[in-house]
Amino acid sequence: MMGRRRARFSFNERAAGKWSSISRAPIISVDGTLPARTMNTGPTLKTGRLTLRRWREADLEPFAAMNCDPAVMEFFPTMLDRDQSDALAARADSSIDVDGYGLWAVEVKGVAPFIGFVGIRSLAADTLPFVADAEIGWRLAAESWGQGYAPEAALAVLRFGFEECGLREIVSFTSTVNERSQRVMQKIGMHRDAADDFDHPRVAAGHPLRRHVLYRLTAEEWRASVGRGVDEPA
Ligand SMILES: CC(C)(COP(=O)(O)OP(=O)(O)OC[C@H]1O[C@@H](n2cnc3c(N)ncnc32)[C@H](O)[C@@H]1OP(=O)(O)O)[C@@H](O)C(=O)NCCC(=O)NCCS
Repeated sequence: MMGRRRARFSFNERAAGKWSSISRAPIISVDGTLPARTMNTGPTLKTGRLTLRRWREADLEPFAAMNCDPAVMEFFPTMLDRDQSDALAARADSSIDVDGYGLWAVEVKGVAPFIGFVGIRSLAADTLPFVADAEIGWRLAAESWGQGYAPEAALAVLRFGFEECGLREIVSFTSTVNERSQRVMQKIGMHRDAADDFDHPRVAAGHPLRRHVLYRLTAEEWRASVGRGVDEPA
């Protein structure tokens, strides 16, 4: 089993769900370089239009609305109730303290304070039929779709994962029928081998969402794509 890789810097650890400390935390920008940090504030990633930041209490209500929107949750086996949604947000935020990376809350600068999450999570403790350091994933509110926000955020996340965290390979996977998510994977330079398709072990046998595609990107492929300018937002 591959060991869990942390970011090269350390963070103060904080128990999940302590939203009062999150909501008051100032944001410190990363902008692709190692920044000064204080407890519970970073890392924050910035792109041309977006800020990927730590979660705030104010995110919880719009996040819960997304998690029970049938459009957003079309390719998930179940929708989330408020408690499940809050717990997911707390895990997303606390994993940033534990691993140095995680699922960041996304805001559109000057436009929308919260549109969902984009980020990476460690696969070290997961039981899936492949080996990789981490998974990149995304979930945005339906009103914000179609503007290239997910690939823009994901490129910043890949850069952070490979360059700051030293990850060797980042994968992404989704149900074979989730073409929107696969388009994001393709746009950020990930590639699929149909031989890697798999049945997700936590989706019931016979469920139409069980069959999954797997997209991969290694650090070497990332470095080559940076040279070709693939990491620059359109
Ligand atoms: C997948 C997702 C993050 C894409 O985010 P996004 O910021 O809209 O990404 P893009 O703007 O690059 O659009 C990606 C594709 O979505 C489709 N799309 C765009 N706007 C759409 C809309 N309003 N309605 C339906 N599909 C749309 C297009 O096919 C587009 O590909 P194209 O640019 O080649 O035409 C977003 O659709 C989402 O949050 N979906 C629900 C959650 C989900 O499935 N997460 C992934 C789980 S593995």
